[in-house]
Amino acid sequence: MGFGVLGVFLGLLLEVSTHGPHAVPRTSWRHQDLDLMEFSEPGVFNYSTLLLSEERDALYVGAREAIFQLSKKNVTVKNNKVLWTVADKPMSMCTTKGKSKERDCLNYIRVLQVVDDERLYVCGTHAFQPQCDYLNLGSFSLDGRHEDGRGKCSFDPSQSFTTVMVDGELYSGTAYNFLGSEPIISRYSPSQSLLRTEYSTSWLNEPSFVFADVIREGKNRADGEDDKIYYFFTEVSVEYEFFGKLLIPRVARVCKGDLGGQRTLQKKWTSFLKAKLVCSMPELNFVFNVVHDVFILKGTDWRDTVIYGVFTSQWGNVGLSAVCAYNMTAVEEVFSKGKYMQKATVEQSHTKWVRYNGVTPSPRPGACINNLMRQQNISSSLHLPDKTLQFVKDHPLLEDPVLPIGNGPRLITKDVNYTQIVVERVRALDKNIYDVIFTGTDKGVLHKSVVFEGEVHIVEEIQLLKNSEPIKNLLLSSETHSLYAGSDSGVVQSPTAFCGRYSSCDDCVLARDPYCAWDPHTAACVNIFDIPSQKLRRLIQSLNGDADVCPSVSGLSQKDYQRVTVKPGSSAELPCLVHSNLAQVMWKSNGSVLTEASRFHLIAENGLLIYSVAPEDQGYYECWSVEWASAAGKNFSRLLAGYILSLDLPPRPPQQAGQPTTTTLGSQETPGTHADAEGNAKTDRAPLTSALAPPSFTSTAFFTSPPQTDSSLTPPPSSTIKFPPKQYLPSPDNVHNPGKQDPAAEYLQHNNSTALLFLFLLFFLLFLAALVYNCYMQYLPAPCLKLRAALLGSHKSTHQQEYTACEAGLMETSTTDKINMTEQPTQNGSQTTQNLRALRDTGYETEPECGNGRIPSHSFGDDSPSQEKPFDVDCESQPIQFADAD
Ligand SMILES: *[C@@H]1O[C@H](CO)[C@@H](O)[C@H](O)[C@H]1NC(C)=O
Ligand SMILES: *[C@@H]1O[C@H](CO)[C@@H](O)[C@H](O)[C@H]1NC(C)=O
Ligand SMILES: *[C@@H]1O[C@H](CO)[C@@H](O)[C@H](O)[C@H]1NC(C)=O
Ligand SMILES: *[C@@H]1O[C@H](CO)[C@@H](O)[C@H](O)[C@H]1NC(C)=O
Ligand SMILES: *[C@@H]1O[C@H](CO)[C@@H](O)[C@H](O)[C@H]1NC(C)=O
Ligand SMILES: *[C@@H]1O[C@H](CO)[C@@H](O)[C@H](O)[C@H]1NC(C)=O
Ligand SMILES: *[C@@H]1O[C@H](CO)[C@@H](O)[C@H](O)[C@H]1NC(C)=O
Repeated sequence: MGFGVLGVFLGLLLEVSTHGPHAVPRTSWRHQDLDLMEFSEPGVFNYSTLLLSEERDALYVGAREAIFQLSKKNVTVKNNKVLWTVADKPMSMCTTKGKSKERDCLNYIRVLQVVDDERLYVCGTHAFQPQCDYLNLGSFSLDGRHEDGRGKCSFDPSQSFTTVMVDGELYSGTAYNFLGSEPIISRYSPSQSLLRTEYSTSWLNEPSFVFADVIREGKNRADGEDDKIYYFFTEVSVEYEFFGKLLIPRVARVCKGDLGGQRTLQKKWTSFLKAKLVCSMPELNFVFNVVHDVFILKGTDWRDTVIYGVFTSQWGNVGLSAVCAYNMTAVEEVFSKGKYMQKATVEQSHTKWVRYNGVTPSPRPGACINNLMRQQNISSSLHLPDKTLQFVKDHPLLEDPVLPIGNGPRLITKDVNYTQIVVERVRALDKNIYDVIFTGTDKGVLHKSVVFEGEVHIVEEIQLLKNSEPIKNLLLSSETHSLYAGSDSGVVQSPTAFCGRYSSCDDCVLARDPYCAWDPHTAACVNIFDIPSQKLRRLIQSLNGDADVCPSVSGLSQKDYQRVTVKPGSSAELPCLVHSNLAQVMWKSNGSVLTEASRFHLIAENGLLIYSVAPEDQGYYECWSVEWASAAGKNFSRLLAGYILSLDLPPRPPQQAGQPTTTTLGSQETPGTHADAEGNAKTDRAPLTSALAPPSFTSTAFFTSPPQTDSSLTPPPSSTIKFPPKQYLPSPDNVHNPGKQDPAAEYLQHNNSTALLFLFLLFFLLFLAALVYNCYMQYLPAPCLKLRAALLGSHKSTHQQEYTACEAGLMETSTTDKINMTEQPTQNGSQTTQNLRALRDTGYETEPECGNGRIPSHSFGDDSPSQEKPFDVDCESQPIQFADAD
């Protein structure tokens, strides 16, 4: 199994980010195009804690020093507010400990949990002295109890943590001390004593908690198993050898009925076990090893539950995010049958984690109490034998990993960092159930994806937040069909679908949105959940995007084409906007396809530019959108706009351009689709890319990417004639905003890794040149001088030896230098992959590698030559490996 192997390399990273599979959102919506409901109050920030109450029709929001009750139907409506500030004394204690008064020593509300119909349990960081209280919903006031919040809420407002309230008991994963260095998973209960994790790195090692929830197994299991609370976090690996800190995503669980041990593990979990979550692309040998959020999609039976997680790589510069899904049955299997890992000491002080192959005590360590144990008179964890307890205390880690459904990610997206995820199951008109995945990014964007026959399709991306800031919290209400996103600056409510924005049947069907269908009677794209069930039958929906199901519409005829008249020698701009990021534009003149190679044409994202119009350029111009619907296996072509270009010749009086027809050049289907669009202008389109259109293109730069420019092109003349774009635009105020930087353009960039690599190499070479020069001029200290001496004469080749030793992978611990720099792993991708393969299935036998695990490491990616030792490259830029246990 090549799974757990991680190859990190500049070349490999580039390979993954440029050639790896990744999806592109079909449609992109800007914030200002959508009429979203928003809430924020001046002076209040960090709206990061959200709680939906179905009963009270409310959205509770925990912000900095304030708690709000908003209407679930319309979050702009504030029904209640209560302030919870920090008194002077705790504030001054906090500031004397070196924390900032304006930032850290405030009260960030981080826990909002339902206690009963009348009350919420609320905790805040309270100037690094976490406190909890009850919020009375009737009067919307705090009881003022000031309960100690240690272990329930983090001290530090920026530290990750998680809580869940289960049957009146608060389960949390957080830090227990001021410094944040003592992580615990604990349970607070009004009736029982506190239960917590052992303070040991094999239990928790610098975890970053992301989520916790209960899975109610108890009620439908014949074996009398307990309900379980699952925790998800990223922690520093103990089981792999690595330079620096290798992060590992984990799932851990405890049993709800756990009472701790009698002698061993007193007041500690007797059921704490954890396993590795795998989210990787085995074919590219690429591992997503940081989990950011988890959503548990619960079924009626616990076995139908699916766990969704969003992952990135520890090496954030790859720019890839992934969604992996896990089958609850598989998770349960790992915990109930998996092998344990054990710490083994090798070479005196050095410890390694290996599979435990000995006899496991009975009852199985870490298992919940079930009927079988009850028969053996073990009715609670207090009766568990010491042997079992001692074992679980020493072996909390399972060797078997939890593998994702399909052994790989459901979704991989480039150039985004997902921070949040929610999933909704939708029954489409074909009666099938689809999991619709909503992912929020660190730039305030929401992606909506649907899994269709094992393939993922990103329906749309939405700029949910006005500013480019992380989505801190994301909730979904199936009742209001809304998403609620919390961020540092406010709360936003968004519908789960924007069906009404698709103006034609083709667009509605090609969107492949399970919420949307075309209603031929009203000629509108509608949300199927807004339509009474007896009318559902007349709706048109095809989730594979087969737009042939649409009724044929009589096409745009040539007499409706817009007339464009220009002076000879000036240039003309024929606007044409394509809605879909999956479609390509095809221009035809006089019925034949224009290629980008044509003399004086420039085919850009938002139209056709014809330079220096000559008499032979007159004629008919048509803009077609050719969209490849992969699931349907077809191209769909649609005529978007038609123009008749003519020259303003002297005999005729000058005529106003751009006004003659008022025909809507919409997205009508034209009979006889043209699926044979070879050689048309193909632009590698990335969604919401930065505006790189030629300067004279002013109509709108919604989704633009670099135009296919000929270097031979003359710059566009100034006398460009522009035409108002058609009603195709989502809203009129997008148009004519030339100078203004589109905020949407900021957050997804074009595929520029090649350029980056080139720049990197260029700078590297410059740097080397500078080094060589300085060394030659004797400006640099000893090691360089030695080498200089070596090169310029005396053959005291100490460095030569170091080289060879390093290349042979037998470096001595004392020498911290390195390899011949011609071995730089930048270009030769296939060779490096081979190296990786060779090193892969090594199990715990770590290959003698160049300084593996011995160099006190710099951060990864710092692969510039070290300052003190020019001409030598760090061994860290060699393949870095971690090997799986098998
Ligand atoms: C939400 O409430 C605000 C303020 O009362 C109101 O102006 C707005 O129209 C409402 N929006 C919707 C969609 O009901
Ligand atoms: C709170 O919000 C402010 C303003 O947006 C931001 O600078 C800060 O980082 C936030 N703090 C936390 C802990 O989220
Ligand atoms: C989970 O796995 C079980 C057993 O392998 C299978 O019956 C079930 O259909 C799977 N569920 C999902 C959602 O894949
Ligand atoms: C369980 O306890 C009962 C009563 O104390 C006793 O009769 C029985 O033998 C015990 N069973 C086992 C398996 O220890
Ligand atoms: C993702 O996050 C990493 C680390 O915070 C950052 O370096 C990177 O630029 C981000 N990428 C994108 C596309 O936002
Ligand atoms: C289109 O056809 C007309 C007459 O049929 C011709 O004059 C013109 O040059 C043609 N234009 C192009 C761009 O081929
Ligand atoms: C669909 O259109 C694209 C671009 O126009 C073209 O490259 C591709 O060959 C077409 N596919 C089919 C099956 O017609």
